[in-house]
Amino acid sequence: MKIAVFVGSIRTGRHGRTIGQWALDQLQARGDGHTYELIDLAEQDLDQLTAATPPIMAAGNYDEPKTIAWSETIKAYDGYIFVTPEYNASMPGTMKNAFDLLKVEWEGKPVGFLSYGGGGGVRAVNHWRDVVNNVGMQPLEAQASLAFDDHFVDFQFAPNDTTAELLEAVAVELVKVGEKISVNA
Ligand SMILES: Cc1cc2nc3c(=O)[nH]c(=O)nc-3n(C[C@H](O)[C@H](O)[C@H](O)COP(=O)(O)O)c2cc1C
Repeated sequence: MKIAVFVGSIRTGRHGRTIGQWALDQLQARGDGHTYELIDLAEQDLDQLTAATPPIMAAGNYDEPKTIAWSETIKAYDGYIFVTPEYNASMPGTMKNAFDLLKVEWEGKPVGFLSYGGGGGVRAVNHWRDVVNNVGMQPLEAQASLAFDDHFVDFQFAPNDTTAELLEAVAVELVKVGEKISVNA
């Protein structure tokens, strides 16, 4: 399987990239035969969703070159780990826009959450669960929610054994669900 670690925050000085890179390193170190790659939203050239045809009606056929490229990027993966902060009790708007641009590319695939924030980003993930369900993804039960008090020191990401265990639980379920889907496909 090919699994993307999708970093969804793009602001200057963000923690998202550091957390995503750490997660990628952890996942690759599992040596489980699956391929893990990073998609950093800050490195993607995307527009705001302005297409006349809603992605749910487009069936994967887009007119906008940037959306076509984004579609190619996302559809190459069998599963995802969304690295999501919590902004105003939800996911970042930029990340939601990137998600909304597509539909069939996400459909049917497993998605796990690695969230962070004062309260671990739990409210962002609660919203994400509704969003990903809406396009027919398979959200995992395991969830790695990193509260600043427990996984950061002096406002810097400082992963410990518990951080790694939380991510590992997501990885185990992602691989299990993903392999089941591949077999049944
Ligand atoms: C616009 C904005 C809103 C935020 N709202 C919340 C919030 O509702 N709950 C929370 O725990 N943290 C909140 N935070 C703090 C972020 O979770 C924290 O800054 C985190 O590092 C953001 O991720 P990033 O560094 O990858 O951008 C907010 C931050 C921003 C920029």
